[in-house]
Amino acid sequence: MDKKQRIMFVCLGNICRSPMAEFIFKKIASERGGDFDISSAATSSEECGNPVYPPAAGILRRHSISCGGKRAVQFVPDDYERYDFIICMENRNIRSLERIVGGDPKGRMYRLLDFTDNPRDIADPWYTGDFETAYREIYEGCEALYNHLTNNTCKERADRV
Ligand code: 4NP
Repeated sequence: MDKKQRIMFVCLGNICRSPMAEFIFKKIASERGGDFDISSAATSSEECGNPVYPPAAGILRRHSISCGGKRAVQFVPDDYERYDFIICMENRNIRSLERIVGGDPKGRMYRLLDFTDNPRDIADPWYTGDFETAYREIYEGCEALYNHLTNNTCKERADRV
């Protein structure tokens, strides 16, 4: 049997993008299967203890995805040992984590949209106000990541026909 895969999504505040990724990925995994430990955290301490930002929670709710009970936490160095895949929303998050951890000696840090055919940062909706685009891009990234982790690219293509 395959070993559980541990995934930590990371953004700046842990109230918009990384919790959206956490709960979208949980939904995909619950529908399609797989043994995952999924969490999310912030590079900053700014929003620690706060719930998911209402516009982000609202978009999730409209897609029947619950994020109730989630509170923002800051990434700590031990998280680097605990998680196999540390999935950041933008390059800036990777630079911040490298400062917290002291580099990325085990090659565990990735950018979410690097798993798609169009690698790029996910702009911060806290600043852009565009939560729809953030949701769409995070969903695209979570599907690509799920397919990467489950070697499911053929099924994904077949589903789209
Ligand atoms: P997030 O957005 O990184 O997607 O959670 C932000 C939320 C809060 C702040 C920055 C980004 N802030 O500075 O408080």
